[in-house]
Amino acid sequence: MTSQIKNYDEYVSAYKKSIEDPEAFWDQEAKGFTWFEAYSKVLNWDFNQAKSEWFINGKTNITYNCLDRHIKDRGDQTAILWEPNEPNDPVRKISYKQLLDEVCQCANALKSFGIKKGDRVIFYMPMVPELAIGILACARIGAVHSVVFAGFSAQALHDRINDAQAKLVVCSDYNKRGAKFIPVKKVVDEALNMGCPSIEKCLVHRNSSETVRWNWDRDIWWHHEVHKQNKTCIAERMDSEDMLFILYTSGSTGKPKGVVHTCGGYMVYTAYTFRNVFQYEDRDIYWCTADIGWITGHSYIVYGPLLNGATTLMFEGVPTFPDPGRFWAICEKHNVNQFYTAPTAIRALMAKGNEWPAQYDLSQLKVLGSVGEPINEEAWHWYNEHIGYQTAPIVDTWWQTETGGILISPLPNITDTKPTYASYPLPGIQAVLVNHEGQEIIENEVEGLLCIKHPWPSIIRTTYGDHERCKNVYFSAFPGMYFTGDGARRDKDGRIRVIGRVDDVINVSGHRMGTAEVENAINQHPKVIESAVVGFPHEIKGEGIYAYIISQNHLTDDNLKQEIIQTVAKEIGPIAKPDHIHFVEGLPKTRSGKIMRRLLRKIAAGDFDSLGDVSTLINPEIVDNLIHSRKV
Ligand code: WT7
Repeated sequence: MTSQIKNYDEYVSAYKKSIEDPEAFWDQEAKGFTWFEAYSKVLNWDFNQAKSEWFINGKTNITYNCLDRHIKDRGDQTAILWEPNEPNDPVRKISYKQLLDEVCQCANALKSFGIKKGDRVIFYMPMVPELAIGILACARIGAVHSVVFAGFSAQALHDRINDAQAKLVVCSDYNKRGAKFIPVKKVVDEALNMGCPSIEKCLVHRNSSETVRWNWDRDIWWHHEVHKQNKTCIAERMDSEDMLFILYTSGSTGKPKGVVHTCGGYMVYTAYTFRNVFQYEDRDIYWCTADIGWITGHSYIVYGPLLNGATTLMFEGVPTFPDPGRFWAICEKHNVNQFYTAPTAIRALMAKGNEWPAQYDLSQLKVLGSVGEPINEEAWHWYNEHIGYQTAPIVDTWWQTETGGILISPLPNITDTKPTYASYPLPGIQAVLVNHEGQEIIENEVEGLLCIKHPWPSIIRTTYGDHERCKNVYFSAFPGMYFTGDGARRDKDGRIRVIGRVDDVINVSGHRMGTAEVENAINQHPKVIESAVVGFPHEIKGEGIYAYIISQNHLTDDNLKQEIIQTVAKEIGPIAKPDHIHFVEGLPKTRSGKIMRRLLRKIAAGDFDSLGDVSTLINPEIVDNLIHSRKV
C-alpha cells in the first residue's frame, strides 16, 4: 500500500519532498508493493528522447498486487460490485478470492488459445465484470490488453485491431444500454471481415439469451472455455517496463494513436493517486461511472481501486435508465461513499431537475469527483448542493490518457476547493505554465500552456509502433518538457484551472475527438469536396462538433446532411456525429493554404464581433458569407 496524506501539512511536506528528491519519494511509495525482484534504480529519463523508465529492472505483476496480495486479509470482501442495466436484475458481488479464481481461469483459457507474454488482445465489451476479468487475465500472463470503447464503429475497431496486430478479440454477444439492446458481436464480425490477418480467435461472452451468427473456425464461447479451466495461474514475472496495455486516443493529426503504459510505474502511480485523491478508507464503497473503454475506467475502476483492496462498483447501464434518478438510486442502494463522474453527466442530470436526487438519501457520500473536461460553475454548484449536500468536497481531477493517472486535483478535506479549479498538482507533479515561446511563466494570475517538467511514474512510454510520433506530439513543442495540449490559468494562490485544448482536439462529453479524424470521415462521403471541423460551446456536451462542408454542386439538402452524419457514424462511431452541419461555399484560407480555424471557431460560437485579423486570408470575402449563412 502507498501512503495516505491526512492533512494540509502532510500534503505540503510530501509535495516538497517529491520535488526535491523525486526518486527517494517514489522509492518510498513503491516499497508498499510486492516485487518479485527489487528494482535496481528508481528512474532513468530523457525527455528529448521521450524516454521515462521507472523502477528499473524491478520484476512484479500488477495482478499479484491487485489480487493475491489481498487474499489473506480480505479474501471474502467484495472486490467488484456489479449493478446491472435493469434495476431489478440481480446484483453481482465478486469477492477478492472469487476474482482471483476467475482471473486465473480466464488467464489459463488465454494460454490455451496460444496467447503469450507480449501478444495483444483487443476487448470490445459492455460494462460487465468479464471485461475487468479479461484485462486482468491478460496482465496475469503478460499479454497486452487494448480495450476499444464499444461505441466505436466496425471501421474504427478494425483500424485498432490492425494497428495493435492483435491475436484475439474478446467481445460480448449483445450490449445492454438502457432500453437499447445492441448486437455487438455483429460489429466485431464486420470489423474482422474487413480483414484483420493477425486475429486468430474471437472469445465471446454471453450477455443475452439471443442467438448470434457463429463462425466455427474463429469463435469460442467464454462459458465453454473459461469456466472449465484450473483456478490457479502463476502470475508472470513482468519487468517494470514491460507493456501493460495500449489505449487508443485521438490527437490533432492523423489516426488515433496507441498510448502505451507499462507495468511498474502505472501500478505505483494509480494506486497512490486513488488512495489520496479519493481518501479511500477500508470498507468504503467507491463508484466511478466511466466506461472501461477509456483511461478513467482502467485507472480508477479496475487498477487503482483493486491495488488498494477497495470495493469498486461497476455499472452496466446509463444515467437515465429507467429514469434520470438512476445514479442517485444506485448511490443510495449500495451506500456509495466516493462517486466519480463527468461534467457532461452532471449537466445532463441537472437539466432533468432537482426532484431526481431529492428522492434519495445521499448522505453517505464523502467525496465527489469530476473528470474529463472543464466543469462549469453552474454544474459545480449543483453537484455540490444537490449531491454533496455542501459537505462532500468536489475533486475536479485533471489528467489525460497519456498521464495514466490524476496529476492535478484537490485532496478532499486537505486542500481547499474552488469551483472550476483542478487546484494544486499532486505530489510528484511539476506542473508549469509556459508562453508560446516556451518560457516558463513564474507569476500568478496568468494564463499559459500547461506543461510538466519532470516525469511521474505513469507517464506515457511511447505511442505503439511509432516512437517518433510520441516525441513529436508531447516532447517537441517545448524541449525538456511534456506538453499537455491544454491551456490553463493559475490564480493568485497557485491553483490551476484547465481551460481546454489549445490544439485541434475537441472534447465532446469528455471524449477526445481529433478534428482531422472527423474531417477524414466526412470526406469519405462522395458528395463532399472539403470540410473543416471545429468545436463549439454545447450546453450538455461541453463542446459539440461543428462541421463546415463544401458539397458538390453546393447541395445543401437535409438528406445529404443525414447521409454525412451516417458516414461519420460508420467511420468512427456515433460519438463523432457532427451536432451542426453548415454547408458553405468556401473555407477561409491563408496564403499557405491553411484553414483559419480560429475564425471558424468564432463563427461557430456565434461570436462575430471579435474575429481578429483576417487580412492574411486569400479569400477575405468568404468571412461575410460565412457569418451571414451562420445567422440564417
Ligand atoms: C483531456 C484528456 C483523464 C480522463 C478522461 C479524459 C481534458 C480532463 C479535465 C478536468 C479540465 C479536463 C483536458 C485533457 N480534461 N480532465 N478536470 N478539467 N479539462 O481523458 O480523453 O485523454 O482527455 O481532457 O483537455 O487534455 P482524455
